[in-house]
Amino acid sequence: MKHTVATFQKAKQDGQKLSMLTAYDYSTAKLEDEAGIHGILVGDSLGNVILGYEDTISVTMEDMIHHGAAVARGAKNALVVVDMPFMSYQSSVYDAVYNAGRLMKEGRANAVKLEGGKEVVPQIQSIVRAGIPVMGHLGLTPQSVNAFGGYKVQGKDRETAQKLLKDAKAVAEAGAFAIVLECVPAALAAKITEAIPVPTIGIGAGAGCDGQILVYQDMLGMFSDYTPKFVKRFANIGEAMKDAFSAYIAEVETGTFPATEHGYGISNDVIDKLY
Ligand code: KIV
Repeated sequence: MKHTVATFQKAKQDGQKLSMLTAYDYSTAKLEDEAGIHGILVGDSLGNVILGYEDTISVTMEDMIHHGAAVARGAKNALVVVDMPFMSYQSSVYDAVYNAGRLMKEGRANAVKLEGGKEVVPQIQSIVRAGIPVMGHLGLTPQSVNAFGGYKVQGKDRETAQKLLKDAKAVAEAGAFAIVLECVPAALAAKITEAIPVPTIGIGAGAGCDGQILVYQDMLGMFSDYTPKFVKRFANIGEAMKDAFSAYIAEVETGTFPATEHGYGISNDVIDKLY
C-alpha cells in the first residue's frame, strides 16, 4: 500500500512511530521500500554523501530532480519527499512554487521539504495551495550553516527554545504535513511534538518525536568523513564493501577472477577457422 501524507497524519493520531531514511538512487530506494520504510527523503545531504561537497549549499535543482526521479522509480510504497535545495525557495514565493512544481513534475516527488520557520511561512502556504505537500525542517538546518557558524545543537537556551516552538507552530499552521527536527534537545523536541498536530520526524532529537530519520550511509557505516553523535550504526557495510573490493583486486591481479563459469563459450570450430 502506497504511503501518503494521510498515512503520516493517521500515524500521529494512532501513536504509531514513522520510519524514514534518505536515499539518492533506484537500487537503495528499492531495498528500503522492500524493507517497509514509511518515507524516503531524497535529501540535499546528497551534496555531502554522494557528491563529496563539504556542505549542502552547492546542490542544484538539477541534482535533486535527477536523484529524485531515480528514487521515485524504486519506491513503490514509500512516500518520496525531495529536498528543495538552497536558494530554490528562499528568494521568493514565486521561485518556491515554481521549483516545488519542478520537483514534483520532473523529480516525481510526492512531497517537498524546505528548511526554516516563520520566514518561510508564505512559501509553505503557497506551495501547499498549489497541491504540493510540504515537510518542514527546523533546528539545525544545514543550508544555514554559515549563519549558524557551524553544525551545532539548536534551542538550548530559553530564547532559542521558545523560537523553535513558535516556528514549529507557525510551520504546522501554514500547512506542512510533518516537520523534521534536527539536533534539538530531546525534551524540547518532545514538547514541540505534543504542541503541534502534525508528526515530527527527529534526527538527533530524541525518542519523543513521532518518527525518526537517518542518512542511510551513516546508519550503514558507509560514510566516514564525520559521524554525528546521534547516528547509530545498524551495520558495517563500509567495511564489508572495502573487504569485497580488496578481494576483487587480489583475484584480478592473481588471475583467479574471472573463472570459466563467468565467461561465454564459443565452439572451437569457429575459433579455429579465424585467421
Ligand atoms: O538532507 C537530508 O538528508 C536531511 C536529513 C538530515 C533530515 O535533511
